[in-house]
Amino acid sequence: MKYYTQFENKSLADQLIQKALEYKQHPLLDKNLGAGKRIGLLFLNPSLRTRVSTQIAASNLGMEPIVLNMDKESWALEMRDGVIMNQNKVEHIKDAAGVLGSYFDVLALRAFPTLTDKGEDSEDYILHQFIKHSGLPVVSLESAIRHPLQSLADMITINEHKKSEKPKVVLTWAPHIKAIPHAVGNSFAEWSVGCGHDVTITHPEGYELDERFTQGANIEYDQEKALADADFVYVKNWSAFNDYGKILCTDESWMLTEQKLINAPQAKVMHCLPVRRNVELSDEILDGERSLVQFQAKNRIFAAQSVLSAIIK
Ligand code: CP
Repeated sequence: MKYYTQFENKSLADQLIQKALEYKQHPLLDKNLGAGKRIGLLFLNPSLRTRVSTQIAASNLGMEPIVLNMDKESWALEMRDGVIMNQNKVEHIKDAAGVLGSYFDVLALRAFPTLTDKGEDSEDYILHQFIKHSGLPVVSLESAIRHPLQSLADMITINEHKKSEKPKVVLTWAPHIKAIPHAVGNSFAEWSVGCGHDVTITHPEGYELDERFTQGANIEYDQEKALADADFVYVKNWSAFNDYGKILCTDESWMLTEQKLINAPQAKVMHCLPVRRNVELSDEILDGERSLVQFQAKNRIFAAQSVLSAIIK
């Protein structure tokens, strides 16, 4: 595997999940696999879980991780080709990616969308610029449109807690105070359908995700109907995709509470974190028996370890 940027196929997903579960039992199983190799973890945006879990994963494999918070500590990057760089951007992405390509064996990149340029975001422009100009294997730490390490951790978590082969998985939109990217929702839908779950997505009208990611899922605008008999409920906000990057609804009644799960008594509740408590999800759920959020966060280590081992072996 050279690039880890999206769901590829169920067979690869199953292999990555199994390897991650092995690493969860024996974190230092391949502690010398990455000896002498260096991974650059490049962040154009903030992170807690992705930054720390990927560093731990690399260390568990004997790799040296070096974090560069490019948004705060590096030069402002010019992303567009052919521009006269006489404004505030100091270094072109071609030059920066080329240099970093000569320093590392693997690059991993977090690059959020603009939420203003739908075309550029939809083609994952920044991620592909790094792939093109670094020449290295690249792992997405969340791009404009996908968050594949989060989704792998989510699939591992579902695998550990499911009671049937084809669990009912509901992705429900939640309110938020800011315009939020689509990456987690897109990726969760893509992976959950790809892994063979019975997937329903519920959101207010106008919040339809890009159809590239939702094929094979049922779309149900009535949240109560969608949640009935759910085995797993994944809570996430995203801004509108068609009316790109806009907040169309602030209806607080979309927040997930215990009362909403009256017809889904066995449902486990998931969220990628960070979560706005009592805006997206109630305290009672987050602090209760249904919540899998800490399992998901811990599994981020083993998801990253599984992916890195597949890249460097
Ligand atoms: N879930 C997730 O990616 O968390 P961070 O943004 O803190 O990395």
